[in-house]
Amino acid sequence: MDTIEIRGNAIAEKVYVECLQELQVLKAQGHLPGLAVVLVGDDPASRAYVGSKERKCQELGLHSVKIELPEDATQEVLIAQIEKLNADPAIHGILVQLPLPSHLDEDAVIMKISPAKDVDGLHPINIGKLAMDDATGFAPCTPLGCQRMLIENGMGISGKKVVIIGRSLLVGKSLGLLLLQKGEGGNATVTIAHSRTENLAQVASEADILVAAIGRPGFVTEDFIKDGAVVIDVGINRVDDASAKRGYRLVGDVDFAKVAPKCAAITPVPGGVGVMTIAMLMANTIRACRMAEEGEARN
Ligand code: GUN
Repeated sequence: MDTIEIRGNAIAEKVYVECLQELQVLKAQGHLPGLAVVLVGDDPASRAYVGSKERKCQELGLHSVKIELPEDATQEVLIAQIEKLNADPAIHGILVQLPLPSHLDEDAVIMKISPAKDVDGLHPINIGKLAMDDATGFAPCTPLGCQRMLIENGMGISGKKVVIIGRSLLVGKSLGLLLLQKGEGGNATVTIAHSRTENLAQVASEADILVAAIGRPGFVTEDFIKDGAVVIDVGINRVDDASAKRGYRLVGDVDFAKVAPKCAAITPVPGGVGVMTIAMLMANTIRACRMAEEGEARN
């Protein structure tokens, strides 16, 4: 089978062209979208993600603020920081990089972010709006990126059987809600499978569109795949590799070499979904600014 590789870069570039157009309009009206990213502790992967977000803001010409707190920061200090950002009119989007150190309560922290500035789409108000097909909310960025890749791939989502492996709020559960919504980019028949799903490979092999978001390198093998399926690999796993410059390499949740020959289309890792998360974060931040300035935000 001639397999199409769905690469993130070309699609992300399209999103950035849209972002720049919108940015030009906002700037002409005297508005500058601002994003604050909060990093607690020193996790190298989190630091790298935060750095990429900051660089992209600078490249596009958004206002960006990085708040770094030490590994042992208290819940009170972190929440005080969020409240300051909630009150700052130059900041339209707030993202607290996850995971947080284990002594901090992630849910309680996310709950403190103003829903109108929650460009990560994780506040219960925004998750609720996602579930209610209310377009005034924000959906999480990785699911938005996956949806956009499927739309751009042109194989269709409406009526298709989608199996998502992984039930995190950040990806699996939210992507399920997004693809289930009525309208363009939705109308799928969604199954969310996970580590306790019986006969997982068989469940997965019924999918027209299979999404792997479990965080286990190479977990999805050819027996999970229906011939001609579209496969979206959300996994970004670091595996030790002495021959690599950094001592590790990035691999997805899908065993690409075994799976690709059976697919109609598949996203590679790296080079697939990863860049889409940042692109959708930029799009959400610009939208948050427009909604704030136009008084559209309803929460
Ligand atoms: N950690 C990994 N991905 C994400 C994301 O999309 N948002 C946040 N806040 N943390 C993450």
